[in-house]
Amino acid sequence: MITVLSLNTAMDRIEVVPCFRTGDVFRASQSLPFAGGKGLNVARAVRHLDEGVRVVGFVGGPQAPAIGAACTDMGIEQHWVSTAEESRTCLIVVDPNANVETVVNEPGPHVTQAEVDKLSAAVRACLGEGDMLCISGSAPPGVPSDFYADVLIAARHKHVRVLADVSGALLREMWTFGVWALAPNQAESREALGFGDVPEDVARHLSSGADHVLLTLGASGVIYGHCGAARHLFPPAVPTVNAVGSGDAFVAGFAVGIERGYEPLEAVRLAMACGASNAQHLEPGVGGSEEIERLMGGVTMREIRER
Ligand SMILES: Nc1ncnc2c1ncn2[C@@H]1O[C@H](COP(=O)(O)OP(=O)(O)OP(=O)(O)O)[C@@H](O)[C@H]1O
Ligand SMILES: [Mg+2]
Repeated sequence: MITVLSLNTAMDRIEVVPCFRTGDVFRASQSLPFAGGKGLNVARAVRHLDEGVRVVGFVGGPQAPAIGAACTDMGIEQHWVSTAEESRTCLIVVDPNANVETVVNEPGPHVTQAEVDKLSAAVRACLGEGDMLCISGSAPPGVPSDFYADVLIAARHKHVRVLADVSGALLREMWTFGVWALAPNQAESREALGFGDVPEDVARHLSSGADHVLLTLGASGVIYGHCGAARHLFPPAVPTVNAVGSGDAFVAGFAVGIERGYEPLEAVRLAMACGASNAQHLEPGVGGSEEIERLMGGVTMREIRER
């Protein structure tokens, strides 16, 4: 079973604003609210691929019932810890003319130590032997730095494979501790670990902290490192409508591929098809199985030679 940690759950809003720029007044041509945050985006994409998923996380305030109802509609098993402060709202402005997205993320509610303790217990209770745990995105203010260390230790005891798409100090922590898979993008890796600009070198450094390194490069694909070998995989060209959340769809695809028993490289292809599929739709998530199979067929690969 795939478990997804959703610490900074959100009610997101996509506003489509042609020719958007700062410092002016605009009318949105389309408005789309959806339950989000990175964790829920991963869970949604797993459901779109028709696999089971459970979410453990914080939710609070007037948005909580709508977020819960959206998850129920999607068939996501939910284990929420209620917070006194309200879950955040994040704004994604999509400009279809310039093909550019602008994102404003709120920091999230300030959670209390008692709420963190409840969540810790909920995560432990959910994890079964050999499960997969996806950890994506940021934590809201108030989550202490040792929260993740406790989760990682509990996961290791139960042979849970941790697939992390995180940034900043948390990426450093996961890399140092060593996890099953790391899936940051290039900018996150540079900012957290300062490995420089050559993706192949960044992936090589990351491999000391993960069995599977998935360094994502947007429309330029992914550097995949595993068992001493590194490959650059390129996605099929797609008309990009909204690539925000492609990293979340990618994580979902890799997790599902591995859970289905695919060879790791095949799971990477599925992940890339999911990332590309997310990019070509306005709403987050992935398309149907025909679309995914077609996109998987368009992934190409180049071996990276050791220097
Ligand atoms: N425009 C695109 N066209 C085709 N494939 C894409 C595109 N954008 C992303 N992908 C696929 O999805 C993967 C993940 O995307 P990306 O590197 O943008 O993640 P990210 O920066 O973590 O995104 P986010 O944080 O918004 O979820 C890429 O490695 C690529 O395979
Ligand atoms: Mg990302």
